[in-house]
Amino acid sequence: MTTIRTEKKEDIDAVRQIHLAAFGGREDESRLADRIRESAGFVPELSLVAETSGRIEGHMLISKAELVDGQDVEDTLVLAPIGVLPEAQGRGIGSELIREGIRRAGQLGYKLIFLIGHPSYYPQFGFKPAVDSGLVLMQFDVPDDVFMVLELTEGELVRLAATRKEKYGELKYPQTFFA
Ligand SMILES: CC(C)(COP(=O)(O)OP(=O)(O)OC[C@H]1O[C@@H](n2cnc3c(N)ncnc32)[C@H](O)[C@@H]1OP(=O)(O)O)[C@@H](O)C(=O)NCCC(=O)NCCS
Repeated sequence: MTTIRTEKKEDIDAVRQIHLAAFGGREDESRLADRIRESAGFVPELSLVAETSGRIEGHMLISKAELVDGQDVEDTLVLAPIGVLPEAQGRGIGSELIREGIRRAGQLGYKLIFLIGHPSYYPQFGFKPAVDSGLVLMQFDVPDDVFMVLELTEGELVRLAATRKEKYGELKYPQTFFA
């Protein structure tokens, strides 16, 4: 049985190994997780591990970013990185991490979660293209369908569009993502 729980200090090495393995040896995602953990945007309850029989098999981080509308700036959330050990993929661990992250983020009072991810994986959790709600991402040059948003509070995207001062709202990832 797999348990989804908050990451502890003693999990950090295993978490690094998960991202290294999940992303084919590339260090970008494990380093990103390390930087987010040390940053102001870190939300400890939203750094989740999947543990099966004492072994950490997956990790997901949801952390703070900003939603900007002209002079107005609101706290929001971004999901990244998420990784599951290659030999443990396809057993629902990624889905369990995402569902628990969504549940916790809602409990913490956040209204939206953004991500850049595969458009065939994330819609099952309720993520949809953010551009359809007048939200844009200027920091990364990615196709529209990979920049997605999930509503934790129903009607939030309509509310934002109705009260928006600028033509578009902009999601801004913190500097942590670029260091
Ligand atoms: C993406 C990832 C976290 C999903 O975790 P998981 O435990 O394998 O996910 P689940 O078992 O809940 O779901 C598996 C399904 O997701 C699909 N899937 C996995 N990775 C995918 C991807 N990058 N794009 C689209 N679909 C993907 C699988 O095909 C599978 O579909 P099926 O159930 O119809 O066969 C994991 O595959 C992983 O670590 N991948 C490498 C790192 C990565 O790409 N991270 C995400 C960056 S956006």
